[in-house]
Amino acid sequence: MGGCCEPSGYDDLFGARFSRHLAKRYRRRGLDRTASRIVEFLAAQGVEGATVLEIGGGVGDLHLELLRRGAARATNLELVDSYEDDAAALATEAGVADRVTRRRLDLVTDPDAVEPHDIVVLHRVVCCYPDHQRLLGAAARHATRLLVFSHPPRNAVSRLLFAAENLGFRIRRIAFRTYLHDPGALTVSAEQGRLRATFRHRGLTWHVVGLTDPVRAAV
Ligand SMILES: C[S@@+](CC[C@H](N)C(=O)[O-])C[C@H]1O[C@@H](n2cnc3c(N)ncnc32)[C@H](O)[C@@H]1O
Repeated sequence: MGGCCEPSGYDDLFGARFSRHLAKRYRRRGLDRTASRIVEFLAAQGVEGATVLEIGGGVGDLHLELLRRGAARATNLELVDSYEDDAAALATEAGVADRVTRRRLDLVTDPDAVEPHDIVVLHRVVCCYPDHQRLLGAAARHATRLLVFSHPPRNAVSRLLFAAENLGFRIRRIAFRTYLHDPGALTVSAEQGRLRATFRHRGLTWHVVGLTDPVRAAV
């Protein structure tokens, strides 16, 4: 870990403080706008009885909402342990703790450790991972019906912000970097020649792409 193109430094950034911030925000205001769009897209496709795999789900707010809407169970994969206390508290408050499994695991390096799920979600994650082809490829191979991910738009403003952010990390000697991947290439990585992008939402700071397996769109 720690080379130019290897994922690293997650503990530096996504620690207990970040986790507390996410949990507090969710308790006060519910899902952020982009996560709400993701849930709306999935709910419109039908989540009743579905299994959900969330990659990099943080405190789990998004999959908690899907469980509330009738999903059968959710598995969350994370690279850090810092969210676990807040995630457990939120799942208990939502009354769904027995339907959530949380694992510290990178699907890219350990793809066989996780079974396929009906729905796979990555919200605000692809910009934290250097190799989108491997991450979204692994995500797609684990999605039997639906895959949805959010990503930042790529424009002059975001290029400047990401460059400034990464410069800040370098100065503070934080190994973590953010990645402004090409949106078209992200979709190709997610399609894997099987899934089809059927939903797009273009917000100011986050875009959402929803992909469907044309053969198995309905539960
Ligand atoms: C910006 S946070 C977003 C957390 C949550 N999805 C949200 O929107 O509040 C990005 C998270 O993705 C996680 N992450 C990045 N790459 C991952 C991977 N390959 N597998 C699991 N988690 C990953 C990081 O550890 C981090 O917690």
